[in-house]
Amino acid sequence: IIRLTSFKLAWPQSQRQSWTQLLSIYTAGAHIHGFYQLFWPTMRQRMRILWALALMSACYVLIYVSYLLAERFQRRTIHTIVSNSHWPISSIAFPVVIVCNKNRLNWSRVPLIKQRYNISDKQSPLFERVLSAYDALQFQHFQVFAELAAEPLLHTLNHLNFTQIVTELAWRCDELLADCSWHTQSVDCCEVFRPRRVLLGACLEFNELEQRASIEVGKGKGLRARLMLNAALHAPANALPKGFVLNILEPTVWFNFPIELLPHTNVDIGITAVYHYYDENTYVLNSKQRECLHENEQFKTLQNFNYMLENCQAECQQLYMLRYCNCSLDLFYPPSNHKPCQLADLSCLAANNQHLQNYAEPGEEAFVVQRETEKGMHCDCQLNCKSLTLLTDIYEHVQPIGVQQQNGSIMMDVYYKRKDILVYKTSLVYSWLDLIVSFGGICQLCLGCSIISLIELCYFTLVDVPFFCWTRFA
Ligand SMILES: *[C@@H]1O[C@H](CO)[C@@H](O)[C@H](O)[C@H]1NC(C)=O
Ligand SMILES: *[C@@H]1O[C@H](CO)[C@@H](O)[C@H](O)[C@H]1NC(C)=O
Ligand SMILES: *[C@@H]1O[C@H](CO)[C@@H](O)[C@H](O)[C@H]1NC(C)=O
Ligand SMILES: *[C@@H]1O[C@H](CO)[C@@H](O)[C@H](O)[C@H]1NC(C)=O
Ligand SMILES: *[C@@H]1O[C@H](CO)[C@@H](O)[C@H](O)[C@H]1NC(C)=O
Repeated sequence: IIRLTSFKLAWPQSQRQSWTQLLSIYTAGAHIHGFYQLFWPTMRQRMRILWALALMSACYVLIYVSYLLAERFQRRTIHTIVSNSHWPISSIAFPVVIVCNKNRLNWSRVPLIKQRYNISDKQSPLFERVLSAYDALQFQHFQVFAELAAEPLLHTLNHLNFTQIVTELAWRCDELLADCSWHTQSVDCCEVFRPRRVLLGACLEFNELEQRASIEVGKGKGLRARLMLNAALHAPANALPKGFVLNILEPTVWFNFPIELLPHTNVDIGITAVYHYYDENTYVLNSKQRECLHENEQFKTLQNFNYMLENCQAECQQLYMLRYCNCSLDLFYPPSNHKPCQLADLSCLAANNQHLQNYAEPGEEAFVVQRETEKGMHCDCQLNCKSLTLLTDIYEHVQPIGVQQQNGSIMMDVYYKRKDILVYKTSLVYSWLDLIVSFGGICQLCLGCSIISLIELCYFTLVDVPFFCWTRFA
C-alpha cells in the first residue's frame, strides 16, 4: 500500500488512464524484462509494438520448452548405473544354507512312529507307502501320491498329521551332518544348523536367524560340513537316485532353485553377490512403471514375511494348491492360515501335478502355457526394489576311487569368492528437482524472471489491484 501511494506521488501529473498507470507502476518496479519497455510512458508506439512482439516470442519459447520439459518429466524414464564396486561383503549376512538328503527320512525310526501313532498291522503297509511317498516328495513332484486314491483304508489314517510325522522322521542335525566348521573353527553341527521347512520338505538350515556376517574370503573360510548319506537307513521303496540337495539364499527369502549334489562327490561352492536397488526418487512412480515393489508396499506374500519375489511366488503356489485342491501342503511353507492338506487330499495334488508344473510370470504365458485349455500358475510377482543376487560357482570333485567313503558322505564347502559386492542403482533420469532447475533456467532465459518476480506479480494481482479497485469504485 505504501509502495502504491509512493509511486502515485512519483507520477502525479501523468495524463494516462489509471489502469495503464497502475500497470506502469508495477512494471517500473518488477523484474520481468520487457514489460518495463512496453509500459514506459515516453516509449514510441512503433517501438512498443516491437517490444510486444519480442515479448510474445519469448513467451512462446517459454511455453513450448516448458511443455517439452513436462513431457520429459511425465515419461519417467529410469536408468541403472553401477553405484559402488567396492561395497564390503561384511555389510550383508552370510547366505542361508539349507541342506537336505534326497531321502528325507530316517527309516529306522518308522517302527517307533508306528507305535506312537497306534498304527495297526492292517494299516501298516499303507502307512509305509505314504511315508515312502513323503521320502521323495518335493514341490511339483506330487505324482508320488498318485496311487493313494484307490486305497480302501485311506480314511482310517486321514486324522494323522503327516507334517508332524514327517518332521519327526526327518534327519536330525547329528544324523545328516558331521565335521562342521565356520570361519575355520570347528563347531557343533547342532549348534549352527536348525530344522527348517522348505519346498523340499523338512531340511536343515544354517544362519537364517543369526544372520552372521563374514569378511573371510576363500576356500575353507566360510561354512564347511560333511553331509552323511546314511544309505542303509533309507526308505526301501524309494528307488530314486540318491544324493543331496542344497538351497543357498539370502535370509528372509523362502526358497531358491535347488542345487543337486551326487554322493561320492565333494563340492566347493564359491559365492559372489550383486546388489541392486532403486533409489527413493523412484518411489513416486507406481510399481508397474518402476517394475519393482519395495518392502512397505502391500502385495501377495507369505504370511508374516516381507515382500520378496520368492516369497510372493511361494504364496502364489499355495494359492494355486488351494484353488485346485482346497488345501495347501503346509510341510513346504511357514505356518499360515491356509487349510493344510490331509491324507485324502494328496491324490488331488497328484492329479493336478501338471498344472502346478507350468509356471508363468507376467508376459511369459505365451511360452509357458502352450494351449489355452492348459491350466498353469500365473503369478504376477514383481522384483523387489532392493534385491540381492547370490551367484554360486559350483566345483564338484569326484572322490578318488580308493578313498571313496563306503558310507557315501561328501564334504561341502561354502565360501565367499570376493571381498566386495557390485552395487547397481536405478534412479529416475529426470526427477522433480531437475524439472524445477530446468524450468527456472528457461524462465530466466526467456523472461529474466525469478521466484521474487513471481512473488511480486502475485502481490500486484492479489493486493495492489484489489486495493486500486477499492479506492476507485468504493
Ligand atoms: C494309542 O493308544 C493308546 C491305548 O490304546 C492310547 O492311550 C493313546 O492315547 C493312543 N495314542 C494316539 C496317538 O492315538
Ligand atoms: C501338524 O503339525 C504341524 C507341525 O507340528 C503343526 O504346525 C500343524 O499345526 C499341525 N496341523 C494340524 C492340523 O494340527
Ligand atoms: C536313525 O534313527 C534311529 C532311531 O531313532 C537312530 O538310532 C539312528 O542313529 C538314526 N540314524 C542315524 C544315521 O543317525
Ligand atoms: C473345493 O471346495 C469347493 C466348495 O467347498 C467345492 O465345490 C469343490 O469341489 C472343492 N474342490 C476340491 C478339489 O475338493
Ligand atoms: C564315513 O566314512 C568315513 C571314511 O571312511 C569316516 O571317516 C566317517 O566317520 C564315516 N561316517 C559314518 C557315519 O560312518
